[in-house]
Amino acid sequence: MEINQLAINDTAPMDLLLLADPSEEMILSYLRRGICFIAKWEHETVGVYVLLETRPNTAEIVNIAVATAHQGKGVGKTLILHAIRLAKNLGYHTLEIGTGNSSIHQLALYQKCGFRLNYIEHNYFSKHYKEKIMENGIHCVDMIRLTMDLNDIS
Ligand code: COA
Repeated sequence: MEINQLAINDTAPMDLLLLADPSEEMILSYLRRGICFIAKWEHETVGVYVLLETRPNTAEIVNIAVATAHQGKGVGKTLILHAIRLAKNLGYHTLEIGTGNSSIHQLALYQKCGFRLNYIEHNYFSKHYKEKIMENGIHCVDMIRLTMDLNDIS
C-alpha cells in the first residue's frame, strides 16, 4: 500500500471522507486548510486522512476513513501511524483526534495507536448535527477528545 499527499490538481475522495463526517461543508472547509493523504492499493483509493493545524504546535487528524470493503485489514492503523510520524516530522508537539461516544471501534483503535483520553465535549453532536446519530446501539451525543504528546515519540 502506498500513502501519498493528494496532488494539488486531484480531487479529494469525498465518498470516503463522508464515511467519517456527514457534513460535506465541514469537509470542504478543512480540506482547504489541511493536508490530505491518500492510501492506494493497486491503483485503488482505499483510505484517506486529513491533518490540520488547530493551534500553535498542535495538529489534529480531522478525518480518517477506509473504504468499507477494505476495513478491518490494518489500513486505518497504518494511516494513523503515518499521521503520527508526519506530525512529529513537521515539528508539532501534540497530535489530537476526536470521535463520538458511540464509536467503540475507533476509541479502541486510537488508544492502540497511543492516543490518551483527554476530555469530553458534552452534547457536541446533538448541537452540531441535525440528524440523530446511532451507532452500536448507542446514541452519539458527546465528542471524546484524545491526545498524544509527540515529544514522547522517538
Ligand atoms: N473493537 C475493538 N478493536 C477493533 C474492533 C472492534 N470492534 N474492530 C477492529 N479493531 C481493531 C483491530 O483489531 C486493529 O487492532 P490490532 O491491529 O491490534 O489488531 C485496529 O482496530 C485497527 O483496525 P484497522 O483494520 O486498521 O481499522 P480500519 O482499516 O477498519 O480503519 C476506521 C478504521 C475507523 C478508519 C474505519 O473503520 C472507517 O473508515 N470507519 C468509517 C469512518 C470513521 O468512522 N472514521 C473515524 C471517524 S472518528
